[in-house]
Amino acid sequence: MPTMRLDKLLSECGVGSRKEIKQLIKSGRVSVDGSAAASPEQKLDTDKADVCLDGKKIAYAKYRYYMMNKPAGVLSATDDGKQKTVLDLTTPEMKKMGLFPVGRLDKDTTGLLILTNDGDFAHRVISPKSEIVKVYHARTETPVNDADIAAFADGLTLGDGTKCLPAGLKPLPDGSCLVEVMEGKYHQVKRMLASRGKPVTELKRLSIGGLKLDESLSPGSFRALEQNELCSVMRK
Ligand code: URA
Repeated sequence: MPTMRLDKLLSECGVGSRKEIKQLIKSGRVSVDGSAAASPEQKLDTDKADVCLDGKKIAYAKYRYYMMNKPAGVLSATDDGKQKTVLDLTTPEMKKMGLFPVGRLDKDTTGLLILTNDGDFAHRVISPKSEIVKVYHARTETPVNDADIAAFADGLTLGDGTKCLPAGLKPLPDGSCLVEVMEGKYHQVKRMLASRGKPVTELKRLSIGGLKLDESLSPGSFRALEQNELCSVMRK
């Protein structure tokens, strides 16, 4: 039976600070299984307890998953002393959930970023062993050609000797291209294209596995993932 203190559960659901939660419980606004909660230390079965605030059910979920359309100019990090991070774009409630970005996009890269507090999930998404394809739209100084496509398919070796897994490269009619990779080395896509003499001028992640960026999200916006979207991440 998964047990948790009432104040911890309410805090993880973003209800308020521990102090605020204590006050809510004291004033009788929190109920557990139909009766006013006794104390913040009260232990609950997180699978079964019916917890309400002002009569409204609090839905407890251990893990949370969000998609963000990452804007340029923001770090893929939880916090930074100086620069704005993707977590700074979220709500005060989300900041209490222990969320972090799944893999990193460079400061100037835009597009699909998953935020979660599920470390195992993040590990599986990032690991090349999972063979989950990440698709990027890249603009380069000059268009890619057939030799570039063949070199990507063979598996590139970067200038510093780093070997890359075979990757997909698809030229688009407007001179830009799609890059499909299963790994996430440091500046990987930029370094792959630069190694072919095609420096990247703009980079956007479009999908992770079967999960596509919801283009109706304006840059900097986010929303919770639907259950079917969460499952689609692992789709090859
Ligand atoms: N590859 C890069 O070079 N940059 C990113 O942000 C993501 C993949």
